[in-house]
Amino acid sequence: ARLVVLLSGTGTNLQALLDAIEGDPEGYGARVVAVGADRHGTLGAERAERAGIPTFVCRLGEYESREAWDAALTEAVAEHRPDLVVSAGFMKIVGKTFLAGFGDRFINTHPALLPSFPGAHGVRDALAHGVKVTGCTVHFVDDGVDTGPIIAQGVVEVTEEDTAEGEAALHERIKQVERKLLVEAVGRLARDGYRIEGRKVHLGHVGE
Ligand code: GRF
Repeated sequence: ARLVVLLSGTGTNLQALLDAIEGDPEGYGARVVAVGADRHGTLGAERAERAGIPTFVCRLGEYESREAWDAALTEAVAEHRPDLVVSAGFMKIVGKTFLAGFGDRFINTHPALLPSFPGAHGVRDALAHGVKVTGCTVHFVDDGVDTGPIIAQGVVEVTEEDTAEGEAALHERIKQVERKLLVEAVGRLARDGYRIEGRKVHLGHVGE
């Protein structure tokens, strides 16, 4: 399967995918054909370039409207004919055009146990709420914010030390689980196929 990965930051989730693919290119069942970012100079894009993977940037500020940006992003991604598009720390909400093009092939990873704590501050919000467990969720993207059908979740315990100041440390522990979860989820979707029925994601070949 062909993967296009979208990111905004450090790209450790991308790196985990690249490492899994390099470890077993045939067995993994998917390869990253392009990496897109919403800004210039991300460490994630640097990781891609180091691996010889084409990159592109689609910056909201360079378009006259959000719709124009969304259409340009859709086109940039479509050029690479992806079977799956992976939002791995891509801090932008895509629009109607993108969802029309990739809706049932577009997945995201979120650092909280959805449907709790959606949005850009999932780790901070979970801490502020005083939860005892949190984690990460890999899910399909729909037109809400982190509301699409759930593919996989991983759990991380919140300890006494995880005060509000400990957001970075907790996020790092979540990311350790998140990277493995994403690698496993993408591999399974790519190798086994899937079917989305309402809110339920069924892994395994369609019609089997
Ligand atoms: C991940 O925790 C993702 O869920 C969140 O941002 C982080 C991205 O990390 N939205 P990285 O860029 O893959 O290192």
